[in-house]
Amino acid sequence: MPQAVPRPTLQRLLRYLRELERLEAEGTPTIASDELGAAAGTTAHQVRKDLSCLGTLGRRGVGYRVGDIVPTLRAALALDRQWRVALVGAGNIGRALCAYRGFRERGFHIVALFDSDPRKEGCTWARLKVLPMGQLRRTVAELRVELGIIAVPATAAQGVADQLVAAGVRGILNFAPARIIVPPGVQVRSVDLAVEAEQLAFLVSAQSTQPPQP
Ligand code: NAI
Repeated sequence: MPQAVPRPTLQRLLRYLRELERLEAEGTPTIASDELGAAAGTTAHQVRKDLSCLGTLGRRGVGYRVGDIVPTLRAALALDRQWRVALVGAGNIGRALCAYRGFRERGFHIVALFDSDPRKEGCTWARLKVLPMGQLRRTVAELRVELGIIAVPATAAQGVADQLVAAGVRGILNFAPARIIVPPGVQVRSVDLAVEAEQLAFLVSAQSTQPPQP
């Protein structure tokens, strides 16, 4: 797959993968492109176009073989491996993330947890001991951590990002409502439930102003 996949394509591929994994767990052997499109909120044409980039072709009248396409898609999306993650911020969000089994199940292993509050140092959550920030650099190197999660107040987020980058992480998942600046070669994704709620509110409000469908 090309290195620079446009973000909407990436999001669709991830949605296909979710649906295909669900079908795999159910034991469904094949799926047609229109069904996969409907499940992922797109069209059969788009599904065929996206999946043909992976060299994966469905067969007319048969569709896509779930057992073949799931490993191909996982490999193309770099999800056929484990990712080692350091989490910074042992607060409410940090605690919820440590307890989130879905992360580990999808290959993201939180292997180190950090916080600047000395009162939290040494506490254990989900079998992870809270470490002081002074140990971040060495621990990231020792545990070969590649990804970092920021779950600290917005005012502290950039400083934490700088420390993660200096320690060698290549990707940051940022939960703080702050814009994070990183050098080239480091990726940042920000998660903001408030933005999701705002989009939902807009869609609900736009729908209620449309005339009802006949
Ligand atoms: P919290 O106050 O419970 O936890 C924050 C933790 O960060 C504390 O343990 C604190 O000691 C630690 N901390 C502060 N400065 C630090 C630093 N420089 N280095 C290391 N650790 C540091 O906060 P909570 O509720 O867990 O929220 C965390 C962040 O997530 C906040 O920025 C909040 O606004 C944001 N948030 C994001 C949501 C989203 O949808 N993305 C939803 C809810 C909160």
